[in-house]
Amino acid sequence: MDLVHLSTKDDVYLDNSTIPLSLAAQFMSRKAEQNFLVKCRDISFQRLITRIEGVSSVPKEFHQKDSVDVLLVEVNINQPDDMQYLQTLLENDFVNIPVIVTASDVTLNMTRELMYMGVVDVLIQPFTETDILTVMKRACEKNGRHDGLTAKGKVISFIKGGGGVGATTLAVQSGCFLATKLAKYGMDVSLLDMDIQFGTAGLYLDMQNDDGLMGILAARDRMDGTLLKGLFNKHDTTGLNVLTIPRDVVPMDVISDDIILRILRILRQEHKFTIVDMPGVWTPWSAKILENSDMIILVTEISISAISQAKRQLDALQDQGLGDIPVKVVINRFTNKSEKVFSIHSVEEVLERRIDHKIPNDYKLVCNAENKGVPLMNIVSKSKVDKSIRDLISEVVGELTDVDIKSYLAEASPSFMERIGLRHVFTKK
Ligand SMILES: Nc1ncnc2c1ncn2[C@@H]1O[C@H](COP(=O)(O)OP(=O)(O)OP(=O)(O)O)[C@@H](O)[C@H]1O
Ligand SMILES: [Mg+2]
Repeated sequence: MDLVHLSTKDDVYLDNSTIPLSLAAQFMSRKAEQNFLVKCRDISFQRLITRIEGVSSVPKEFHQKDSVDVLLVEVNINQPDDMQYLQTLLENDFVNIPVIVTASDVTLNMTRELMYMGVVDVLIQPFTETDILTVMKRACEKNGRHDGLTAKGKVISFIKGGGGVGATTLAVQSGCFLATKLAKYGMDVSLLDMDIQFGTAGLYLDMQNDDGLMGILAARDRMDGTLLKGLFNKHDTTGLNVLTIPRDVVPMDVISDDIILRILRILRQEHKFTIVDMPGVWTPWSAKILENSDMIILVTEISISAISQAKRQLDALQDQGLGDIPVKVVINRFTNKSEKVFSIHSVEEVLERRIDHKIPNDYKLVCNAENKGVPLMNIVSKSKVDKSIRDLISEVVGELTDVDIKSYLAEASPSFMERIGLRHVFTKK
């Protein structure tokens, strides 16, 4: 067995090849490391690297997917700093590598909390060899959980430059499209209507507003995937999981940063995509949602008020320190006449960035679908506006995930004849 040293004095590398997994383990003390090594002396990892250092300084070598398959890290869960460092690790460097936490004095609630944070398992101290084998087995199963089909869910938030510019329409139609296409691959899609006072996402899908959000607020610390699932409405034809706004108008500050982070964490684990329809106003928690989004889609239209508000939104994103989150600017209800009001070039000059996408205007179709509470394709199977929304969201998905998912979205929907089982009847020999 080879012994390799990292640059810090207390590191040990061990090599052999029975468990098909390279494990990097970081402990807070020599005692904890020794205890682990003793307990797993009969377990042979493909490669085992141990190190003694706090969670605040996991070395760069541990982040590399090709050299490390799983990270085991000891944390003091009663130490807020440790939890903060762990959170940062999970959200940044270890997005692609499963993380197991080992700690003592862990309650069931705390274990749950750690799992929501994105930890794949918790090795509670004191542990036995069997405990180690169990968590490693789980890590093996989860290894690559963020790759391909099992990738960590993405959050796409829609904000608006101007009122009534069509942000909810685009969010709802995008959600319906993704949910329909990805259901057969076992991937869930959810839509959160966070315009909690006057949102219309439920209305556009013929769903009654209900008290799902109030249920989430009431459950708070008890909130988990199962509870959350029960508070969402499943859209019958697309399978989209929708959180509607509450029945009654509630103050914007009923929501806290804490609860929003918890919801997003759970959704990221359980759903492939979460689409958020954001309120027009900035609330204390809206920056938290945007900060935790993988993409922001700013919807606006060609009018003086909408463009000036779009500019304010872009500036606000910068001011809030959210300038790093990718943004797509979409002009909705675009017509050739729009260009006579302001050219795209001049809009780009005002916004100081390029326009990424234009969605055509089709008031009759969009209004008709929304009044009936159905997706656009239920009214007209192929329309320019629907295609344009699909292209937009497919492009976003392509940027956020691997190529496979984009190709699933590009698959042709079964024709009407295929759906009723008459595909070959009219096929010429
Ligand atoms: N591409 C489009 N073509 C024509 N009409 C559209 C289009 N997109 C949205 N609309 C219409 O614009 C109106 C406003 O749309 P929507 O509710 O989606 O906007 P919003 O930005 O979410 O508004 P709010 O500020 O109220 O949240 C609706 O009547 C909708 O049917
Ligand atoms: Mg809206």
